[in-house]
Amino acid sequence: MDAIEIHGGRPLAGEVDVSGSKNAALPLLAATLLAEGRHHLGNVPLLADIATMGRLFDHMRIDLDRDEVDPRRVTIRVPSSPRAEAPYELVKTMRASVLVLGPLTARLGHARVSLPGGCAIGARPIDQHLKGLAVLGAEIRLEHGYVESSAPRGLKGGRVVFDVPTVTGTENLLMAAALAHGTTVLENCAREPEVVELARVLAGMGARIEGAGDAVVTVHGVESLAPMKVDVFPDRIEAGTLLVAAAITGGNVVLHRCRLEDLDAVAAKLREAGTRIEPIGDGVHVQGPRVPAPVDFRTAPYPGFPTDMQAQLMALCTVADGSSVVQETVFENRFMHVSELDRMGADIKVEGHTAVVKGVPSLSGAPVMATDLRASASLVIAGLKAQGTTLVQRVYHLDRGYERLENKLSQLGAEVRRIRA
Ligand code: UD1
Repeated sequence: MDAIEIHGGRPLAGEVDVSGSKNAALPLLAATLLAEGRHHLGNVPLLADIATMGRLFDHMRIDLDRDEVDPRRVTIRVPSSPRAEAPYELVKTMRASVLVLGPLTARLGHARVSLPGGCAIGARPIDQHLKGLAVLGAEIRLEHGYVESSAPRGLKGGRVVFDVPTVTGTENLLMAAALAHGTTVLENCAREPEVVELARVLAGMGARIEGAGDAVVTVHGVESLAPMKVDVFPDRIEAGTLLVAAAITGGNVVLHRCRLEDLDAVAAKLREAGTRIEPIGDGVHVQGPRVPAPVDFRTAPYPGFPTDMQAQLMALCTVADGSSVVQETVFENRFMHVSELDRMGADIKVEGHTAVVKGVPSLSGAPVMATDLRASASLVIAGLKAQGTTLVQRVYHLDRGYERLENKLSQLGAEVRRIRA
């Protein structure tokens, strides 16, 4: 199994491009199901989660071809009646497979999608997705671990009030409502940039959507949609991860293709820690502090501090000049990186949803492993700062959401490589 080996201590320097966004690409791929025909997507990141979606499309008898010259260019041919099923083997490796439920039910009148089950960062139910589809008139049955949804005469507009702002739940309902008869009002929606981008692309396909990015979104259903042609926008979480990596090493880095406007909460905390972050051309220039100042932060739905950046910023706090308090409010069990960071010499105490991080003068490299994607990224970041060698194992977590992170870091001068451990 692959591992990432890091010899810490080098400040990052240089320029690097941010890849296409995983969490934007996945709903866009699901949205192709809404329109028969040939869809074109560019800047699709080369990630394990995207490959999983490809396997799901294969199962659904949908052709997905990557361009031979530019593998980030993808053509998808959606037939008139794909197989409307997402099997357990695929959904269990990637919860976002559940994004096919809304579009399949809306266009074909039925779908069979495995329930995702628990995952490393908590129970993560899909009750809000199902509640919303039921409001739009789908009959939902749970049988043998599968959601069977059926709306043989099509979906009907309705008023859906989400109990919690859910990102993929809002996306599923946006897609379903786009082809429903009549008007749907979605309340307490997630406002993440990826939701806004999906709405923008759906509108380009002919959907009528008002208010995306607000808590209340109105969708006027249309009869049919046209295929999409779109380039996936840059990944704000990859960008944020690279910003923290630059900051913790006291580096001097330019990130190209980085949308700073999507990173307000992250940039604010990094600045509080003493990092200089300036917009420049198509990206940002970041200069890390000599020693970071401690920062308190709490995760929250957008525009709050993203839960997907909590582990990485916590890595920075481990070497700050004082104590930081970190609160995780979005997911349970999202502190798995703490015990591993402590093994590298960090001083972190967790109580419930709160972690108190006492800054230490230095970290020491160690063999570590993480059980989720962003936790793995935080260990890589800690390894960049630590004295000696850090071996981050179970790299398949990292590969779900980062396009060869080690290549980008070595391009910036880090001593890091992938090895077979
Ligand atoms: C998405 C992102 C993920 C990110 C998360 C929160 C994608 C593919 N993944 O995941 O990277 O960490 O947003 O920003 O975009 N909840 C319910 N019932 C539901 C749905 C959600 O109770 O039906 C709860 C969850 O358990 C969680 C909270 O709502 O506590 C937010 O989860 P949600 O926004 O749905 O996360 P995902 O869409 O799965």
